Amino acid sequence: MALQLGDLVPDFTAETTEGKISFYEFLGDGWGVLFSHPKDFTPVCTTELGRVAKLKGEFDKRNTKVIGLSVDPVENHEKWAQDIEETQGARVNFPMIGDADRSVADLYGMIHPNANDTQTVRSVFVIGPDKKLKLTITYPASTGRNFDEILRVIDSLQLTADYMVSTPVDWKDGDDVIVAPALSDEQARERFPKGFVTQKPYLRLTPQPNR
Ligand code: BEZ
Repeated sequence: MALQLGDLVPDFTAETTEGKISFYEFLGDGWGVLFSHPKDFTPVCTTELGRVAKLKGEFDKRNTKVIGLSVDPVENHEKWAQDIEETQGARVNFPMIGDADRSVADLYGMIHPNANDTQTVRSVFVIGPDKKLKLTITYPASTGRNFDEILRVIDSLQLTADYMVSTPVDWKDGDDVIVAPALSDEQARERFPKGFVTQKPYLRLTPQPNR
């Protein structure tokens, strides 16, 4: 069955552009993003990998490791990295798994045979420090992902993990957040000293607590 939110993600070992890794060891105690792309030396993938390289510092700030994957061998990833640097102006600065035997792709359900039976789709898995799946999204090969959105979701997930809040539609870092309905007004006053605005008893907004 496909991995679902809240599931413990499977551990694996794999060859990468930075040597052999054990996934759990690679993640350590922090957050992780495992993402697949369909094929090396293809245009959309080239732009995506360049973008992730440019955003590496943003992932680092969020204590989040990033790791890419396709079913191409590591040697191809290494050759392709030169094209990515040349065309996107960024050196790939995170490991890329060479999953030529598709073992990780199958473990994570990254091949959707009715879309393409030999290439991975554009899967994203965001994994928490507890190794549980916090977010998964799937894009088709023809659509490049928005990695700013993935950072935005990580910001939301980390706020939820640290405070009893959730984030409203189109929320971005710095906007007001929603007080968990499970908290009474009295508990919310203690927990959120900046106060909160009650629009409905179930809809209370408070300034972002970690700002
Ligand atoms: C691309 O990255 O452009 C791409 C890869 C596989 C299929 C279609 C497009």
